[in-house]
Amino acid sequence: MPPAGQDEDFLKYAMESYVADVNTEFGKTTIVFTLREKSGALAETLRVFQAHDVNLSHIESRPSKTHQGCYEILVEFAEDERQQKIEEVIDLFKKQGEKDVLVQDWNTKNKQNKDSVPWFPQRISDIDQFANRILSYGSELDADHPGFKDPEYRERRKYFADIAFNYRHGDKIPRIEYNDLEIQTWRTVYNELTTLYPEHACREFNYIFPLLQQNCGYGPDKIPQLQDISEFLKDCTGFTLRPVAGLLSSRDFLAGLAFRVFHSTQYIRHYSAPKYTPEPDICHELLGHVPLFADVEFAQFSQEIGLASLGATDDTIEKLATLYWFTIEFGLCQQDGQTKAYGAGLLSSFGELQYALSDKPEVHPFEPSVTSVTKYPITEYQPRYYLAESFASAKNKLKTWASTISRPFQVRYNAYTQRVDVLDKVSALQRLARDIRSDMSTLEEALGKVGVVRG
Ligand SMILES: [Fe+2]
Repeated sequence: MPPAGQDEDFLKYAMESYVADVNTEFGKTTIVFTLREKSGALAETLRVFQAHDVNLSHIESRPSKTHQGCYEILVEFAEDERQQKIEEVIDLFKKQGEKDVLVQDWNTKNKQNKDSVPWFPQRISDIDQFANRILSYGSELDADHPGFKDPEYRERRKYFADIAFNYRHGDKIPRIEYNDLEIQTWRTVYNELTTLYPEHACREFNYIFPLLQQNCGYGPDKIPQLQDISEFLKDCTGFTLRPVAGLLSSRDFLAGLAFRVFHSTQYIRHYSAPKYTPEPDICHELLGHVPLFADVEFAQFSQEIGLASLGATDDTIEKLATLYWFTIEFGLCQQDGQTKAYGAGLLSSFGELQYALSDKPEVHPFEPSVTSVTKYPITEYQPRYYLAESFASAKNKLKTWASTISRPFQVRYNAYTQRVDVLDKVSALQRLARDIRSDMSTLEEALGKVGVVRG
């Protein structure tokens, strides 16, 4: 132990003001403190650790954003350090902080806010917990549904709903033997829509569609299988499909996107009205949604909406669902001076696709702060659409807007573990910083190898 009073002397000299963040997760302890910019201040402060015989395994510094003229110093203790010695030093820091400016214990600082955060999935298998929390079951049709009075159709809908209900993460999606009426309905929709795509669909859609014909059995004579498509998408962007038994809440549906999981119906609309469906069906999913989930930029854009929704307030969920509606469902984009469709609601509707690209509706630039609060009808053509410059531009705008969402943490998807990492602790930020450093080093080496001269 250092002589009495010596610690205070060290700190008096160096720490005119500091903030201490203390985190003791995963057996490692870190402290963040703030030092005034002053020659020798850091060396003097580190002597406190030396005097208490505490070894440090990592030190980082950065200019403080909140305390002008100060630096934030993060120190990490070696894993085998005795907790008692560490606590002595932490107590000392806290004592000094009470005299001076501010001490914040991380766990206390964030606890209150975190208690009010709605539950959200952190592992991809957590989706099993809400996938059946549906607003209506597949065979429960409204009286005005074209298949309401058709007992065979209703039986069929129950069959599809049961498949989805029993599905668990990691299962293969059961293959369906579609009957003649179902294939005939698919053929009608497929043949009509594919005549419009070359002129009206965006470039990315038209690039991917032939790949689906080659790899997933897209064509007029059979309905492609969700499992084949899911495997194709996984190869392209990591997206997968998951069968769904009915309508999910916006919160649950968007949470799936955070894991690049798209909840897809497997049944088809009633044969009596092939150009109309009151709810999403396999024509809407496979012709409208699936192609663009194979596009890297679009996949990232979709996932950003999902990530922003995790733990969000109900008000934010409503805004994100509105953004989803005006982009992934009804989005338009500008390409080579022309307006093209990329929204699934358009690309799966013969009538609305042509209407949206006529001069009848209003078209406004995609701007999340405006788009997210726009009201819209769900049973008729949209009176207003939003135009993105590109998927990358839409994604960047969305990320900027999402950064203003009030949430006491940030999240990041870890594709290796298929988990959402919650970035609310120093240790999580350290892991992220290390990953970024490793990626930067790979980038630097790659730049050297492809002959790009460093600036
Ligand atoms: Fe949709």
